Amino acid sequence: MEIMRTIELGKTYRDGEKETEVLRGINLEIDEGEFVAIAGPSGSGKSTLLGLLAGLDKPTVGQVFIGETEITTLPENRLAKIRGRMLGFVFQSFNLIPTLTALENVELPLILNGIADAKKARELLDLVGLTNRSRHYPNQLSGGEQQRVAIARALVCDPPIILADEPTGNLDSKNSKTVMDLLISLCEEKQKTIVLVTHDLDFASKAQRTVHIEDGRIS
Ligand SMILES: Nc1ncnc2c1ncn2[C@@H]1O[C@H](COP(=O)(O)OP(=O)(O)OP(=O)(O)O)[C@@H](O)[C@H]1O
Ligand SMILES: [Mg+2]
Repeated sequence: MEIMRTIELGKTYRDGEKETEVLRGINLEIDEGEFVAIAGPSGSGKSTLLGLLAGLDKPTVGQVFIGETEITTLPENRLAKIRGRMLGFVFQSFNLIPTLTALENVELPLILNGIADAKKARELLDLVGLTNRSRHYPNQLSGGEQQRVAIARALVCDPPIILADEPTGNLDSKNSKTVMDLLISLCEEKQKTIVLVTHDLDFASKAQRTVHIEDGRIS
């Protein structure tokens, strides 16, 4: 069953007179439970595509579907609901709140949804192997640990889809492998759909499928 789809998706950035066509004619289908890597050189439009899939940005042309819903034309309040229910995000730069502990960072999405649940947050920290780091602040954690906290936070509302933009970009090879193995196990054991942006072809090769972007198109 397909969980994400794009139809003839295109994005052109306009800066005054200057137009840059970053993506064009992107037709992508992602199945439920699939692990897809999006690879391509720097500036090829990988992050732009992920932003469109997440509804964080609007395409210039084309459509994005999450499940049955076309998100491209939805008003922000409905989009926010779908995002909250369907998507978890992981970024290259972790994006943890520095004044909150690991546990509080993971619990934050629940609190924002009006359901404080420290037990659930603790379960997720256990899942990413950080049971004994729950009271640490981000600056007291290694990069790899911070990224695992960020993954726990992305998972805490139990979304079926995880979108990850270069999640290993700021990590050394050992921590990168830990994070990749975690993403793979989320796919294999929790049936999560993973969309991983990476320029590391070695990591991309661990996905079930790699989509290469070049000159704004899927090649
Ligand atoms: N908001 C914006 N306004 C104008 N141009 C943009 C904007 N965002 C991205 N671009 C341009 O679009 C192109 C694609 O950017 P994007 O960030 O999607 O690339 P990327 O493949 O993720 O690169 P990297 O591997 O370096 O992260 C680049 O040329 C970039 O300069
Ligand atoms: Mg990028």
